[in-house]
Amino acid sequence: MNHVTVGEYWNANAEAWTKLARAGHDVLRDQLNTPAFLALLPPVDGLAGLDLGCGEGHNTRLVARRGARLTGIDIAEVFIRHAQAEEARAPLGITYRQASAVELPFAAETFDFAIACMSLMDIPETEQVLAEAFRVLRPGGFLQFSILHPCFNPPHRRSLRDDDRRTYAIEVGDYFIEARGRIDEWTFGTAPAALRERLPKFKVPRFHRPVSQWLNLLLAAGFILERFEEPCPGPAAVEAHPLLQDAAVAAYFLHVRVRRPGRAGGTP
Ligand SMILES: C[S@@+](CC[C@H](N)C(=O)[O-])C[C@H]1O[C@@H](n2cnc3c(N)ncnc32)[C@H](O)[C@@H]1O
Repeated sequence: MNHVTVGEYWNANAEAWTKLARAGHDVLRDQLNTPAFLALLPPVDGLAGLDLGCGEGHNTRLVARRGARLTGIDIAEVFIRHAQAEEARAPLGITYRQASAVELPFAAETFDFAIACMSLMDIPETEQVLAEAFRVLRPGGFLQFSILHPCFNPPHRRSLRDDDRRTYAIEVGDYFIEARGRIDEWTFGTAPAALRERLPKFKVPRFHRPVSQWLNLLLAAGFILERFEEPCPGPAAVEAHPLLQDAAVAAYFLHVRVRRPGRAGGTP
């Protein structure tokens, strides 16, 4: 499966995803992943940034509110349409374009930074995406991204629960087997049953790479590794949102920041 076919799946997911995420049902994103991602993000005020796989633009808007001039791209036309409608309703100076991260429609060295929230692991052509991100970044620019943690979200994952339904361990397997486009069907667990029944389940093509592959591909692309984070919800967050409990047992997400070598605006 290539990025074009993956894009067709995401385009079909986009209507229901936008509705449910905007209604607050992407709890892991809103209560854990995005706050940790923003805490890791360096100051971006006045910088030109690119959001790779921006979806309906939720995180693009949050970063734009920090003073950056954002461009969001996504392969799914339906997501881009929703993102543009929200920009028209409440402008933040964001430009959205339908495009694949595998073939970015931008000149070399256009952006000071790039972000990619839970999108890079959905694109099979990882080498090309990293090469494209490197190309459009100015020297000294950074790429910060979040992915499903490869160690604890490989093709086989199961939560082991005690009698009180609390997760005490995560069973993982098939770590070295690349899930090249296996279709996972699911929806956001907190959505009310009536809504879930009305909306189609998401069909998400899965691509898994062991963590060593991610690191080696980033290095091969020419990036310097800068930061690694594994967001962990605190007890208060788990109490308020029990869905987060699994992520306190083993990391659900991996956050990485890498940098294109060289001084911004100067000689490398
Ligand atoms: C899990 S969603 C994340 C959306 C958004 N970044 C967020 O955090 O809410 C993954 C996104 O990656 C996009 N995507 C998948 N393949 C892509 C590609 N080749 N180029 C650009 N976007 C892509 C999908 O359309 C989808 O919007």
